Amino acid sequence: MPKYTLIDLDYRYDALEPYIDELTMVTHHTKHHQGYVNNLNAALEKYPDNPYASLEELLLNLDKLPAAIQTQIRNHGGGTYNHNLFFTSLSKNDGTLPQGKLMEAILRDFGSFEAFKTQFTQQASGRFGSGWAWLIVNKNNKLEVTSTPNQDTPLALGKPILGIDVWEHAYYLKYQNRRPEYIDNFFQVIDWTIVEKRYLDA
Ligand SMILES: [Fe+2]
Repeated sequence: MPKYTLIDLDYRYDALEPYIDELTMVTHHTKHHQGYVNNLNAALEKYPDNPYASLEELLLNLDKLPAAIQTQIRNHGGGTYNHNLFFTSLSKNDGTLPQGKLMEAILRDFGSFEAFKTQFTQQASGRFGSGWAWLIVNKNNKLEVTSTPNQDTPLALGKPILGIDVWEHAYYLKYQNRRPEYIDNFFQVIDWTIVEKRYLDA
């Protein structure tokens, strides 16, 4: 039975200042993300016969899990998966745009980088309450933007390669009610090299 651990970040908590502040990063990683991992492990303790070797497989088979733990795995397994992807997507990019095959795919599937950014921003700002907006590689190998509520993942639709957390815990200390400003600044801290690698591996 896999026991999950909180991922380490390979950058400092203040590395994304001023776009994402240090206190938000510390709290988000060591409290919120850690909490999802702890609760995922607690749920899995009640499921010793778990046949799914990876978190992704576990989340793709939610409907086959024992009813008593489905919601916990959905929320906390999803929370662990989503935050693993989020925290490993971040690096100050000095305004650089995606390159290479990823940019080619963005131009092919959205028409322009600006059109992609507009659609992604709409998904992130239009998600009512808590949730996520995503860039995914869908089942037809096309890029697509979408959003999910709560800690649901977009795995049923395709492979996520970038996600923005729009729970208030991701931005409220610095931005309060200004979610649009947080979303706009998020574009300053996307590590496009990692997103392109995920695209090529999808
Ligand atoms: Fe979060």
